Amino acid sequence: MPASLLLLCAGLAVQAQPAADSVPAKAAVCAACHGPQGQSTQAAFPILAGQTSRYLYLQLRDYQEDRRKNELMSPMVVGMTRDEMRELSDYFARQKPPRQNFAVDAEKARLGKLKADETLCTMCHLGGFAGQNEVPRVAGQHYDYIIKQLTDFKARLRTNDAGSMTSVSGTLNAQDIENLAHYLVGL
Ligand code: HEC
Ligand code: HEC
Repeated sequence: MPASLLLLCAGLAVQAQPAADSVPAKAAVCAACHGPQGQSTQAAFPILAGQTSRYLYLQLRDYQEDRRKNELMSPMVVGMTRDEMRELSDYFARQKPPRQNFAVDAEKARLGKLKADETLCTMCHLGGFAGQNEVPRVAGQHYDYIIKQLTDFKARLRTNDAGSMTSVSGTLNAQDIENLAHYLVGL
């Protein structure tokens, strides 16, 4: 490879690497609901810190294209570019998830784990619900938020999941959902 081309490649490599601690301009807006660094402490607002970047990006895109709707969240992505979505997703994925202080009911959590094992949730969500790519991390997410999402999937109020979650949640009753949330919030 000629030296000039090598230099060009080196230059591109440097450009493609954002500074590890760079904070996207729009992250300040998100903090109003999702907390600083996406470490939400309010149960209605999902924790974004430590979520997979790919999943965050897909959700922002889905809100923008009306595949997922929420009166508080949908307006946030109006006019947002794909690059801004990627930058925000990478930023929140890099942050450390907060510790939960929810009072887990040990018996409900035990039943929730049994249900999760029986339903093979971790085939997609991975062990400990750590998430991977487009499959979200659910470990340590807020109790109220988990309940709302599973209930929304079941009622088909949320349908941006290509069928995976709407079919899984169809096999869960309200008690299963409560037990699963006790299990997941404590992971
Ligand atoms: C006014 C409050 C509010 C603000 C500000 C806000 N959000 Fe949200 N966001 C929400 C709510 C509420 C939800 C959950 C909605 C639902 O149940 O679908 C949500 C959900 C999300 C989700 C989906 C998370 C998941 O686990 O599926 C992402 C990603 C997200 N927000 C990113 C952002 C980003 C990035 C910003 C800043 C540009 C932002 N939000 C600003 C209220 C807000
Ligand atoms: C076939 C794969 C698959 C299985 C099995 C599965 N999930 Fe999911 N789950 C997904 C995908 C993919 C999404 C993200 C959907 C989207 O993009 O909206 C998701 C989303 C979720 C969410 C919403 C997370 C958020 O931040 O909004 C919860 C909660 C969840 N799953 C819990 C479970 C539980 C509990 C089980 C077992 C009872 C389970 N999942 C089984 C693939 C799966």
